[in-house]
Amino acid sequence: MRQKLDDIRQWLSRQWSALKPWALRLLKLLGEWIARVWKVYTVRDNRWLAVPCTAAALFVLLVLVKSYQGIAYNYTNECKIYKLGYPIEDARTLVATLSEAQEDTLIAHQEHDTIAIPVLGMRYFIADNFDRYLALHKADKTSAPLDVIIALVNVGYDRDRESSAVPCDTSKGQLMLVNGRHYLDENYKPENLAKFSMDYCYENQRAQSVVVDAFMEMQQACKEQTNAQLMVNSAYRSYKDQIGTYKRNPKGYAARAGSSEHQTGFAIDVTSREHPMRWPFDKSEEGIWMREHCHEYGFILRYPKKQSQIFGFAYEPWHLRYVGKEVAKRIHDEDITFDEYYAYYLDRN
Ligand code: DAL
Ligand code: ZN
Repeated sequence: MRQKLDDIRQWLSRQWSALKPWALRLLKLLGEWIARVWKVYTVRDNRWLAVPCTAAALFVLLVLVKSYQGIAYNYTNECKIYKLGYPIEDARTLVATLSEAQEDTLIAHQEHDTIAIPVLGMRYFIADNFDRYLALHKADKTSAPLDVIIALVNVGYDRDRESSAVPCDTSKGQLMLVNGRHYLDENYKPENLAKFSMDYCYENQRAQSVVVDAFMEMQQACKEQTNAQLMVNSAYRSYKDQIGTYKRNPKGYAARAGSSEHQTGFAIDVTSREHPMRWPFDKSEEGIWMREHCHEYGFILRYPKKQSQIFGFAYEPWHLRYVGKEVAKRIHDEDITFDEYYAYYLDRN
């Protein structure tokens, strides 16, 4: 029965353009009828009849308008979403929040999606990504929590890496994003490279001059607090250097050439003279101090102990990225990765 009604409604909707002139003609006729009835009966002094006739005509008109509204409502996205099983308030919220194209995608899913409403209220929700959150949630067999789904989609994890990769926007300066999806070409070389003093590295190392200054400030504070000497193991690496680094390192610990932020001059790998190896450094007093305080000097731990698919590498407690004090504080306080920060604060339309 319901199917039959739907078929009739759809047929009516298809016929609407043909029916429209007839409907308008009918309305006109009704109007003329009211006018005529009123005229005839008032002239013949039968005013008592004019009133019920007008009321009857108006009633017919009202029924026609209401039926049309009822049929038309069935074709609104609000009604279609409601019919998928969402409570009417949720259907209204979705229609108020989403674009028409996103509503159509939701309707095309043909089922009540359990994250459609919760996702709207999530921190870092980006409306343009709405259908991709639903699609990843649906495809994800591990049932990642919603905040992880939001982060993964925002950083582009759900897209094919090769075909979705774009050139890095170097105009963003110290906030440029370099990763598997934002690449530098082989000729990119930073302009303001400065050398670290040989007291703080084992072989010549260079980085952007702001990074050298910030490191000096940080290492001095670390020395005062922990009595250990921070050392720079690696800093700026050219595209060509990175080809070698990629070959030498285990999978997950080095980026392909063009996808390493060492090429920007804003990244440094740090351990200490007391704990020169990466993993003992991780547990050392100065390693812990550096992780907790580096944001005060404009650095972030670029590859933290988090869902590594968000940034695409393993946990690297030694790899710092300079982003300036204000942004470093925000990333630290909000406990997000630079990829998420960039997607939400710098790359949204
Ligand atoms: N170790 C980081 C991922 C790099 O090679 O840039
Ligand atoms: Zn590094």
